[in-house]
Amino acid sequence: MNLISISDLGKEDIIRLLDSADAFQARRGGHGEPLKGLSLAMIFEKPSTRTRVSLEVACEELGGHALYLSASELQLGRGETIADTARVLSRYVHGITARVYSHHTVMQLAQHARVPVLNALSDWEHPLQILADLQTMRQRFGRLEGLRVAWIGDGNNVCNSLLLASAILGMAITVASPPGYVPKDQILEQANKLCGRPKVVIEPADAANGADVLATDTWISMGDEGQEAERLRVFGKYQVNEGLMRLAAPRAVAMHCLPAHRGQEITDEVMDGPQSAVFDEAENRLHTSKAVMAWLMGQK
Ligand code: CP
Ligand code: NVA
Repeated sequence: MNLISISDLGKEDIIRLLDSADAFQARRGGHGEPLKGLSLAMIFEKPSTRTRVSLEVACEELGGHALYLSASELQLGRGETIADTARVLSRYVHGITARVYSHHTVMQLAQHARVPVLNALSDWEHPLQILADLQTMRQRFGRLEGLRVAWIGDGNNVCNSLLLASAILGMAITVASPPGYVPKDQILEQANKLCGRPKVVIEPADAANGADVLATDTWISMGDEGQEAERLRVFGKYQVNEGLMRLAAPRAVAMHCLPAHRGQEITDEVMDGPQSAVFDEAENRLHTSKAVMAWLMGQK
C-alpha cells in the first residue's frame, strides 16, 4: 500500500494511525524496532526541513536506515526515468518517499515500485503533513468529528489534503481564498463524494467566524516563485492575525505547516501566542511519520 493522497486512507485507518502516533509520542525511545534492518529511500526535488528530518529521525529511532537522495544528484537528474528509478530502488530498499514538483511523478513512482511509496509533498497534496495536523487537532480538542476548520489563503497542496481529510473525518471546513486561488474543482468534487460539505468563500472573516481551527500556509509555495509579485498583491488580506483570531471560537487554535513567512500569512503575535499550535504540529510530524512507516513498511 502507498500513501500518495490522504484519501488513500479511510477513517478507521486514520484513527488507527493517530492512536499509534500518540503511543510513539508517549513512549519515545522506549518503543521497539519495527523497522530493524529496513531502509527508506528519500528522494527530494525540493528543499525540506521538517519532512526530511522527521522522516530520517523516525526511521532511525524505529531501527531502520534512511537515505537522503537529492533528485539532482541521482541519475534521475541526467534523464534516467522515474519508472526505472522505482524498479531499481525497489531491489534495495523497503520504502520510498518522494518530494516532487509534479504529482504525476510520485504517482509514477508508486506505479513502478514494488515497495510502499509515501508522498512527501507534491504540487497536489501533502498527506504526511495532514496526519500531523490531525494528531495535533485531536490532542487539542479531544475529537475530530464536528470540528470547524477554516483555511485562510492559497488553495494549495496542504489545503487539498486538509479538505479531503475533513471530508473523511466529518469536520466542517471553510476555505477562504482570493478568486483564482481557490481549490480546484477536482478536489472539491472528490471531497463532496467523500460526503464532505466544503465551503469556499472569498472573505477571511467569513471562514474564521466561530471556527475551532484557523489554518494557513505560505502565499508562495515551492514552484510558485515566478508569481511572487502578483501573489503578494493578491493575498494581502489573507493573514491569520489577532483580529481574525478574535472572530474564531474562544478556544480556537492557529495552525501552519511551516515554514512560515512571518508578517505575511501569519503574524508573530499569533505564531508565538497562546493559541498557536504550530510547533506541536511540527513535532507531530515525527510521531505520525513513525506511525505511517511502522504500518506500511514494518515487520508484520
Ligand atoms: N511542513 C513541511 O513539510 O516542512 P518542510 O518543507 O520543512 O519539510
Ligand atoms: N505549500 C507549501 C508547503 C510547504 C511545506 C509548498 O508547497 O511549498
